[in-house]
Amino acid sequence: MRKKIALIGSGQIGGTMALLAMQKELGDVILFDIMEGTPQGKALDIYQTAPITSSSVSLKGTNSYADIAGASVCIVTAGIARKPGMSRDDLISTNTKVIKQVAEGIKTHAPDAFVIVITNPLDAMVYVMHRLTGFPRNRVMGMAGILDSARFRTFISMETGVSVADISAFVLGGHGDSMVPLPRYSTVGGIPLPEYPGLSKERIDAMVARTRSGGGEIVELLKTGSAFYAPGAAAISMAEAILRDQKRVFPCAVLCEGEYGHRGLFMGVPVLLGAGGVEKIIEVGLTPEEKAALDVSAGHVRELIEAVNRSGEI
Ligand code: NAI
Ligand code: 2OP
Repeated sequence: MRKKIALIGSGQIGGTMALLAMQKELGDVILFDIMEGTPQGKALDIYQTAPITSSSVSLKGTNSYADIAGASVCIVTAGIARKPGMSRDDLISTNTKVIKQVAEGIKTHAPDAFVIVITNPLDAMVYVMHRLTGFPRNRVMGMAGILDSARFRTFISMETGVSVADISAFVLGGHGDSMVPLPRYSTVGGIPLPEYPGLSKERIDAMVARTRSGGGEIVELLKTGSAFYAPGAAAISMAEAILRDQKRVFPCAVLCEGEYGHRGLFMGVPVLLGAGGVEKIIEVGLTPEEKAALDVSAGHVRELIEAVNRSGEI
């Protein structure tokens, strides 16, 4: 029997993921949203790509949580993005309410699922999902690190002219301006970035800064929304690692229980992803400067969690 993958939220990222999941034949896809017609319309459109791309899985759009029953993986993009005049706390309060509904739907109808949260503010929303589902930490994770490191890899490729296939990058911490891209653990053809011939510290620092503001750069250009192709592809690679037991090493937002010196908060760390979900958190040594930067980022995640708790929604 084919596996089932449920996409909660059928907006820009939800639609992108439905198309990718279908093309990769990850399983039968359920596209859910509270907006009537949106998931049904997108599902029909995307389903009609199947004869062209020779995909044999099915796709259904729905407004009913009952349809996610039996899903192995649920990916959550439901919520709103920050609008002008809105504080970060306003966004937190609205999206906490949304995640509360989604957590209830998943807990009731797909209690054995692995859950990948994308909704912003990411590190706080994945915390809310974990609290409200009560699922074990190996089954609840946030997508951000793959996107942030893909941005870093892209910028390194643009700078060096080397294929992204030969570039790996390492980003730790929360999904915000204080995220911690680590040049020392990022490589071009296996060569650590600071040792790559002809690459100055100034150029590396500029790429780190551009990575940190990578989401904002796209928002400024698009004006009407945020990035969705790369975020969709990143989350689908997480789902694929779980569904196909690929044992990939990815940076994901997971609950730290002492790892990297932090407890009780979700933030981006390298993990082993396979059929057991988050099978292992991989700890690497950090210099005092790197650890200090990670602590600053973790401090910002804690502020988000405090704002969630202040909102009185959970
Ligand atoms: P979008 O606005 O296109 O889609 C959001 C969808 O959620 C809409 O279709 C809306 O109807 C639906 N929705 C709202 N309330 C709902 C509820 N209670 N139940 C079910 N569905 C509900 O937004 P987009 O571009 O798809 O982004 C989704 C989220 O992902 C945003 O919060 C955005 O900030 C975040 N994001 C996170 C990234 C990351 O790295 N973690 C990267 C890019 C975006
Ligand atoms: C991004 O990084 C806005 O979180 C979103 O593209």
